[in-house]
Amino acid sequence: MCGIVGYIGEKDASQVLVKGLKRLEYRGYDSAGVALMNGKMMIEKGKGKVSNLEKKIDTKKLIAKIGIGHTRWATHGEPNDINSHPHVSESGNIAVVHNGIIENYNSLKKKLELRGRTFKSATDTEIIAQLLEEIYTTTKGITFEQAIQLTLKQIVGTYGIAVVSLDQQDKVYVARKGSPLLLGIGDNEMFIASDASPIVEYTNKVIYLDDGEMAVVTKDSYKVKTIEDVELTKEIHELEMGLEAIEKAGYPHFMLKEIFEQPRSIGDCMRGRINPEEGTIQLGGLRDVMDELVNAKRIVIAACGTSWHSALVGEYIFEYLARTPVEVEYASEFRYRDPLIGKGDVLLVISQSGETADTLAALREAKERGALVLGICNVVGSTISRETDAGVFTHAGPEIGVASTKAFTAQVVVLIMMAIKIAMEKGEITKKKAKKLIQELDSIPEKVDQILQECDEPIQKIAKMFTYAPNFLYLGRSYNFPVALEGALKLKEISYIHAEGYPAAEMKHGPIALIDEMMPVVVIAATKHTNDKTISNIEEVKARKGRILSVMNDDNKDVKELSEFSIQIPTTKDYFSPLLTVIPLQLLSYYIAVNRGCNVDQPRNLAKSVTVE
Ligand code: G6P
Repeated sequence: MCGIVGYIGEKDASQVLVKGLKRLEYRGYDSAGVALMNGKMMIEKGKGKVSNLEKKIDTKKLIAKIGIGHTRWATHGEPNDINSHPHVSESGNIAVVHNGIIENYNSLKKKLELRGRTFKSATDTEIIAQLLEEIYTTTKGITFEQAIQLTLKQIVGTYGIAVVSLDQQDKVYVARKGSPLLLGIGDNEMFIASDASPIVEYTNKVIYLDDGEMAVVTKDSYKVKTIEDVELTKEIHELEMGLEAIEKAGYPHFMLKEIFEQPRSIGDCMRGRINPEEGTIQLGGLRDVMDELVNAKRIVIAACGTSWHSALVGEYIFEYLARTPVEVEYASEFRYRDPLIGKGDVLLVISQSGETADTLAALREAKERGALVLGICNVVGSTISRETDAGVFTHAGPEIGVASTKAFTAQVVVLIMMAIKIAMEKGEITKKKAKKLIQELDSIPEKVDQILQECDEPIQKIAKMFTYAPNFLYLGRSYNFPVALEGALKLKEISYIHAEGYPAAEMKHGPIALIDEMMPVVVIAATKHTNDKTISNIEEVKARKGRILSVMNDDNKDVKELSEFSIQIPTTKDYFSPLLTVIPLQLLSYYIAVNRGCNVDQPRNLAKSVTVE
């Protein structure tokens, strides 16, 4: 959700900012803007992509060595030129970019209007610039830093902000509460960003700000303190990702690159953790809490979006292998219903970004009530990964495409490893069985690779047949029911085709009414223990003239015969099959979206990292 970037150093700031905003564009792409200072404040901003902004800046030849920039995903106020960030104070001396939501902006706005301030935009952000200026100019003897602190104390809501002021031309001020921000430490230059992607090509030394902290940044120094003015010494972290991880590497879209990266990302997720020869699993991040995990009365998993789908796969696998009761919750629902969770329970949160506001709130709620809180995150250094008691990183590498692909498979791999590990510790499976499972898990990257090699072309052809279908139904049973949900979500997200995922048998209780000769029905028929039942469901669809498109094991003749189109994948254990069945569905939605001319990596209205509730 919204991206923030800032620079102070010797380079042309506009170039650093624009490049950084392009890297952050996956966080928001309604509009973009920069504020640059070189004796005067120069604001360039507008609706649309960063490339539009770039053109404007080029024509004006703005040269400055300090500036802040923003790419927006609208919350308050429609995306238009005026509502784009940066927002400036009445005098134009102070510019602010902001990620988050100011909840009391209406009452603050009224107060400021009574003091004669006029507002130009419909955003909550403008409040920050105006209030800051009001406090700074009317409070005797106050420093700019103190004025920021007083401003933030009056604000209710969440923010990651970067501020520049004509009175302080050698400084960028930043602060965070609920929205990620980090500082990149360069050689005689400093960077600010809402995630590491704009920074990684310049430096690998970063500092993560925590909630309630602010920093004053010059080109060769930084001072971090709390909003209450307590100075802090922050740890400097080393970024592990390289630039290649955030570039397209010859693929037309990040999403396609990330789909094709899965043999590697799944392998990276398992590397050093499974030992197929010995049949063991080591999850270093969970070592200290393994006893509690093994003895947990139940595990509650909370997540959003695609991560919620992987949680559902986890529920099936945990209950089957480890025999631990699992409940899966939408993070947004969990927190608002006085959840029954406390000591002896485990809350496991799953989040690619590690910043999703609802998931974070669920974590905090459960922690406060005494539950052990664990996380599965992809982004190292993210808020969720830092606030959980323990956890496992997915190591899938940066995911830039807004529609999640490789994060899903990596999350499922972590859940499988956890389930096998707990099952072994609890004595629910024998060492021999565990070893077999681990060996099968080890073969998954190769099988994913095989699917990518063999199915990509056939899927492109199938996609052409269904490009203009107005609706899709996805059906799956057991471990592949969540995959049906995920397949439908992928199609909705990037092609804007209405799609529903359903448990295959539940179809009879509603969606069957929608089926006619126009309705493509994607059936995931790769779970052996429910094969006969799934065949019956296919028959039910066919009897109503629905068009069957199946994802099936390559030895499943019955399903093949019943399908108009079938995508054949290698066999594996039923509970590992989501790792394989999801791949053709990712490709199908990708190619349909491309055929429809949709912006695959940045679908309308969606954001990669949803940091507002
Ligand atoms: C957004 C993204 C989805 C993602 C969901 C949860 O809606 O567009 O792709 O699945 O957030 O994000 P998280 O980072 O918590 O996994």
